[in-house]
Amino acid sequence: MSYLNLPPLDFASQRLKDKVIFVTGASSGIGAAAVRLFAREGAQVVAAARRRQKLEALSRELEQQGFSVACVECDVRGEASVSEAIDFTVARYGRLDGAFNNAGVHAPRLPIHEARVEDLDAVLTTNLRGVFLCLKHETAAMLKSGGGAIVNTSSIAGLIGAPGNSMYAASKWGLSALTRCVALDYARSGIRVNAIAPGPTRSEMFDDWQTTEDDRARLADKFPMNYIAHPDDMARAALFLLSDEARWTTGITLPCEGGRSVA
Ligand SMILES: NC(=O)c1ccc[n+]([C@@H]2O[C@H](COP(=O)([O-])OP(=O)(O)OC[C@H]3O[C@@H](n4cnc5c(N)ncnc54)[C@H](O)[C@@H]3O)[C@@H](O)[C@H]2O)c1
Repeated sequence: MSYLNLPPLDFASQRLKDKVIFVTGASSGIGAAAVRLFAREGAQVVAAARRRQKLEALSRELEQQGFSVACVECDVRGEASVSEAIDFTVARYGRLDGAFNNAGVHAPRLPIHEARVEDLDAVLTTNLRGVFLCLKHETAAMLKSGGGAIVNTSSIAGLIGAPGNSMYAASKWGLSALTRCVALDYARSGIRVNAIAPGPTRSEMFDDWQTTEDDRARLADKFPMNYIAHPDDMARAALFLLSDEARWTTGITLPCEGGRSVA
């Protein structure tokens, strides 16, 4: 059986009813799918990204469906930008209940002797330092409002090794360490911190990397379930970890990769 091109699931149950949820990298891919899903699940969503026009288009789309989504420009590489985006969220809704730290970039796939230090710095600055900054300001806001839940986006590359992927993988393995340690920092303060680890998922990043349908089918075949995920699949994993259904779960990185890391 091939799972290629399955349509997204469609069910709703208001699992984030009235929760204020901040989402980074919200202008495309997994982040945009999360904004759509979290709004349908009853959240007050603050969609944060660098590309204002894309954010506004997403907000208009959801408004037409009867949902209101607030947009804020945020570049996770800058501490001022992150802290202003969290301040915007708290000023608008009075508190912060949840965050999906999802913004990320990939790095050139090269053996390390051919790798450029600038590319390492770039991927660590966004994928690791960016999430560090988000966690720092989100936990500060959540401590004031009595707790919350945070989900970071790691990767299959943060669960298993792969040739040529040292720079991106280092950022995502680091993210799992950050997730574990910060989860323990706040385990007694009502703040849960987890991560999801997507396998290949159709998005702008994925399209840059796997450009033809033949390449995509070949890649899918390397995964036990022979599937390239829909961004909504990842949003649903984040939804579970953000919701009260996961109230006893903290510090984990949840594999969402069709069985690849257990094969
Ligand atoms: N698509 C995949 O196959 C895959 C697999 C594993 C993990 N991931 C991870 O999923 C996350 C989302 O990626 P995606 O697949 O939806 O791709 P995407 O390229 O569609 O989304 C990434 C988003 O992050 C944003 N972003 C990048 N740098 C930023 C910055 N400095 N500040 C704010 N926003 C920034 C981009 O503009 C984009 O909207 C990333 O962390 C990525 O590493 C993706």
